Amino acid sequence: MRVLEACTNAAALLKSKKVQPENVMLEAQLLLGRALGVDRAYLIGHPEACLAEAVEMRFMAYVERRSKGEPIAYILGKKAFWTLELQVGPGVFIPRPDTECLIEAILSRLEPRKRKALAVLDLCTGSGAMLLSLLSELQGAFGVGLDVSSGALAFALANARTMGLLSRALFVRADIRGPLPFLPRRFDVVVSNPPYIPAEELSSLPRDILGFEPRLALDGGDGGLRLYPGLIGQAASLLASGGLLALECASAQAGCLVEWASASGGEDVCTVKDYGGMPRGILARFGKEMNS
Ligand SMILES: C[S@@+](CC[C@H](N)C(=O)[O-])C[C@H]1O[C@@H](n2cnc3c(N)ncnc32)[C@H](O)[C@@H]1O
Repeated sequence: MRVLEACTNAAALLKSKKVQPENVMLEAQLLLGRALGVDRAYLIGHPEACLAEAVEMRFMAYVERRSKGEPIAYILGKKAFWTLELQVGPGVFIPRPDTECLIEAILSRLEPRKRKALAVLDLCTGSGAMLLSLLSELQGAFGVGLDVSSGALAFALANARTMGLLSRALFVRADIRGPLPFLPRRFDVVVSNPPYIPAEELSSLPRDILGFEPRLALDGGDGGLRLYPGLIGQAASLLASGGLLALECASAQAGCLVEWASASGGEDVCTVKDYGGMPRGILARFGKEMNS
């Protein structure tokens, strides 16, 4: 089979299975690129190239997985986030573009002269998306990522290694609801994108999310707010004076978080908007020293 024919057939199959109908050709090309070990540009430039049987079989297997709803990021084994390409796969949450808005907001709040040697704590780190993005921008900063899932932490560690950030990142398995492991210092920045989908809405999630991404990464309990009071409490005690807390949430939850952060001593509390202009998180200062 040739490249164009293979992609056209796969796109038609994905469309018939109602998998992202508007993106099927792009997805077919990405999957063939993975099977062949080339990028999309090569496939577009070589529509008549013949595929070896082994490549064809690998490609068909990928298309079949996708046609059953598996997220394309899991099949490709990677997801672009911020300026990074993160390794992902079954067992870890796939980072979402909206979380990048929080990274942008955090960086804009950090005073340039204090960016060096900042200590960053990422509670619920998953693939390490937030922590590694911040460390990649904050030269000389050091960070700790906590997650209760050892599967997720394996990805975070692999990502830190690939990005050359292993010497500045430490990943520890911990349940943020319990006493945390000993952390030798206070942090200048605490970030978290915890599970926040209301339990009552889980069953209405698309099948490529609900059927494949870890429930632990999605289920936020009643109203989706289960972890936030504990998170805010932990952050308030772990932040250095003037430290910055950044929490991601759903838009309907932002008002609640603003209230809780203020009640816990947070100052300059504000919401962060996502690319659609909806509230997607909050920022708060704890203490006064590090005003920007
Ligand atoms: C929505 S994912 C976010 C992952 C990552 N921060 C990101 O933005 O891509 C939430 C993460 O919280 C972790 N998690 C859920 N409950 C936890 C708990 N009680 N303690 C620590 N981590 C938890 C999950 O394993 C998952 O990796």
